[in-house]
Amino acid sequence: MIQIAKEAACSAGEILTEHFGKIPEAAVRQKTKNDFLSFVDEASEKKIVSIIRSAFPNHEFLAEEGGKSGASGDYLWIIDPLDGTKNYLSGIPLFAVSIALQYKEEIILGVVYDPLRKELFSAQKGAGAFLNEQPIRVSGKEKLEQSLIATGFPFKAKHFLPVYLKAFEDIFQQSVGMRRMGAAAIDLAYLAAGRFDGFWEIGLSPWDVAAGALIIGEAGGQVSDFWKKNDFLWNNYILASNGRIHNQIMEIIQKYFTTYQAVYQRKEA
Ligand code: IPD
Ligand code: CA
Ligand code: CA
Repeated sequence: MIQIAKEAACSAGEILTEHFGKIPEAAVRQKTKNDFLSFVDEASEKKIVSIIRSAFPNHEFLAEEGGKSGASGDYLWIIDPLDGTKNYLSGIPLFAVSIALQYKEEIILGVVYDPLRKELFSAQKGAGAFLNEQPIRVSGKEKLEQSLIATGFPFKAKHFLPVYLKAFEDIFQQSVGMRRMGAAAIDLAYLAAGRFDGFWEIGLSPWDVAAGALIIGEAGGQVSDFWKKNDFLWNNYILASNGRIHNQIMEIIQKYFTTYQAVYQRKEA
């Protein structure tokens, strides 16, 4: 299954690379406010689903553009065919393909592929995490004061901005610095590889985080929501770290995000 996932990610990566920098403005469509797509997201998704479906015709799919498809059963593939669409459409060379597989609601494999750098991050449950063929581990930073933290801005849920910015300020003050890459799958993969020490964002979807979360877990890190629950896949709040600084970041975030609030419950301004 991991071989098929890697094959699907690499084939999709070829499509992304082929069209990168060549998408005409007229081909860009708006999904919701501040959220865009082009034929490339769809072509990439079609390729991934067709490769996996020919290998596993009875599996179910949850893909960003097409939603749910296939027979429901124990196996569910969770797919983001192009993570970092805004980067991609703006000619910023940082985006990825993200593919995960759940078995009985547990993520058992994950692949994140950056086709421009040919960096393939992967993991299988219980078998460690890899960048291409090399094993990877999260960083050894012991304290937030030594850490580089990644985040994403709540651009689809701007009513969260005041509270998000308070937490941002606090974490920024206490850390070495903050990065905003524009591709959550890349943030998570980089954390697994020890490039970042922590990551937090609100408003993400299962296809953004499913693969990266397993890769982090297998690289020795920790992933949760903001309240130490394991519900990050579905509840839109994610905190990931090398494990050592997890509680320190969580304590800060909890000062501001005191209770769970549905991220998309109010209309964006
Ligand atoms: C987006 C990226 C971005 C994050 C957004 C996601 P997309 O995914 O991961 O970093 O901040 O919330 O939706 O739309 O490019 O697949
Ligand atoms: Ca995404
Ligand atoms: Ca996407």
